[in-house]
Amino acid sequence: MKILGVETSCDETAASVVEDGVKILSNVVVSQIDIFAAYGGVIPEIAARSHLEVMMPVVEKALKDANCTWDDIDSIAVTHAPGLLGSLLIGTLTARTLAILHNKPLYATHHLKSHIYANWLNVLSEQSGNEQNRNEQKQNPEFPLLALVISGGHTQILYMPAHNDFKIIGTTHDDAIGECFDKVAKILGLPYPGGPAISNAAKNGDKNKYIFPHPKVDELDFSFSGLKTAVLRTVQKELGLPISHPSYDLKNHLTKQQIADFAASFEKTAVDILLEKLEKARQEYPETKSIVFAGGVSANGALREAAEKRFPDCYFPELKLSGDNGAMVAAAAYYEITSGVQPTDPYSLNIYPRISIEQ
Ligand code: KG4
Ligand code: ZN
Repeated sequence: MKILGVETSCDETAASVVEDGVKILSNVVVSQIDIFAAYGGVIPEIAARSHLEVMMPVVEKALKDANCTWDDIDSIAVTHAPGLLGSLLIGTLTARTLAILHNKPLYATHHLKSHIYANWLNVLSEQSGNEQNRNEQKQNPEFPLLALVISGGHTQILYMPAHNDFKIIGTTHDDAIGECFDKVAKILGLPYPGGPAISNAAKNGDKNKYIFPHPKVDELDFSFSGLKTAVLRTVQKELGLPISHPSYDLKNHLTKQQIADFAASFEKTAVDILLEKLEKARQEYPETKSIVFAGGVSANGALREAAEKRFPDCYFPELKLSGDNGAMVAAAAYYEITSGVQPTDPYSLNIYPRISIEQ
């Protein structure tokens, strides 16, 4: 079964053809990072306009790279929630129109579900600029499992007893972890997106130089706004500046080594907080057979290294598939279809910028 997956929930315009939920036949991602690096963050209206400009060429390239015509495509899948309103609209309106035009069943998927299903996709390799499927035999995560979803907008621990069955057992009370990386990067004068920039800077830093407190949050929940403020106050203190000193100016006073030390110490704290909660979740759900990481922050090298030491049965999406892409949307839809989910009505499909994965 060949599914065309379409993703536009934030600032990546993506389309991909995936066979049977695992085999990637094409994977086209056009990122708006270059545009938003100049602004230091995503501007929703600009994101929507940029999606509109490249949406159809991205879909056409995905079909071409997969050597497919519309006759070869069995279904279309699209992210309809959660995300930026204007961005979601471009992807869903495109998918709805294509489904009607080409008479294909349409499936609407939740973005976090798609990030989780990136873990079932086969490994990619790069050949002359095109991503090709290496078709490597990959072991899939086993159920029941715990999924840690860590992205720019979410930080949640989910319990999955089976495919397409999700229970939220922990969530953030305030900032998402990716948002925290982005905000700390801004304080340190590092470019957007902050996650990869912090990770890079941290390589030359001392992760034990600054000690940041772990939030005292009950159960399996998270809180990251305090960590961001702790970094801000420690930077001000280190520089001998008052707490009223504007955060946007701090970068002008920091040395390269200080930036590296702050990045490394922050990254270590963030990783420790995530893995401590996961350890607690593991104790509460001892029957789980796998731990699955999902979302943009799962690209983080320090997290991967520490998690693999702590949880031998953990799974990470391939690096290229940890950010937003269409392949994971097609994979999620495949497991919806095989779980008995019926297609949605292309004439009335709505978008839900803030809906939970449980609904
Ligand atoms: O999943 P994603 O691409 O988009 C959303 O669904 O939000 O996640 C984007 C987030 C950003 O906050 C970005 O800074 C973070 O993922 N990120 C990372 C890394 N790469 C991306 N955070 C930490 N380390 C990384 N290597
Ligand atoms: Zn995402």
